[in-house]
Amino acid sequence: MSDELPKAYRGLDFLTVTEVRHWTDKTFSFRCERPASLRFRSGEFAMIGLENGDKPLLRAYSIASPNWADDLEFYSIKVPDGPLTSRLQHLKVGDKIVIRPKVTGTLVHDALIPGKRLVLFSTGTGIAPFASVIRDPETYEKFDEVILTQTCREVKELDYGHHLMEEIANDELLSEIVGDKLTYIGTTTREDSPLMGRMTDWLRDGRFAEYTGAPLTAETDRVMICGSMDMLKDHKDICLDIGMKEGANSDPGEFVIEKAFVG
Ligand code: A2P
Repeated sequence: MSDELPKAYRGLDFLTVTEVRHWTDKTFSFRCERPASLRFRSGEFAMIGLENGDKPLLRAYSIASPNWADDLEFYSIKVPDGPLTSRLQHLKVGDKIVIRPKVTGTLVHDALIPGKRLVLFSTGTGIAPFASVIRDPETYEKFDEVILTQTCREVKELDYGHHLMEEIANDELLSEIVGDKLTYIGTTTREDSPLMGRMTDWLRDGRFAEYTGAPLTAETDRVMICGSMDMLKDHKDICLDIGMKEGANSDPGEFVIEKAFVG
């Protein structure tokens, strides 16, 4: 097959889509088969996309499935004029996606020093890498408590997060490993819901401490952040203000960031 394809496709894999689910008019998730050779750490991303003439159309996507899963899951925004997502949103079961089987990323355990509480801050589809991290047993070996926050504009956008929690609760093995260590805090900013406001505001005005039982501290907490550029900057500033150091794979720290990829 690769003999017939242009050079730009060399080294890429074609994977069959096995499930597509539309969550809102702005978001959808899909699953595809996982090549046996593709190994990744929970929280990493890969370049994925579609065949597109001489050159494939590829964008960075966090892998939402945990590293032990048989298939690959992705959670994506739909950008009406986005070169890739405007097409990707029409994926159907049986279609093929293209993947560069080389994964990387900083939202991984290796980039954090040991701690007691793992706090995962996300907005919108920034929850994707954490969908992987919260389903990884290693997360619960390393931390006593895991808090996942997701801020979205509207209530319906929190469905994916709530569904993840249900999926974990209904998984016999995983629910035993997770126990009562995991909390999901879904907040909205533009539609009324029980929990409202940006998480950055919650951190600054004490609502985060009140809700979780303790303020964010460099001593016990380790943080992963995934969202828009503005969101990353604001969360990063809060982490730096409380004396946390940014970590990397080569130099672990107290917090790590990754931008949520759109395209
Ligand atoms: P808000 O509605 O107050 O802008 P977006 O779609 O613009 O990426 O936003 C997704 C969610 O992230 C919204 O709920 C938005 O709140 C929130 N958000 C946007 N910017 C920031 C930021 N700098 N810090 C924290 N949350 C943010």
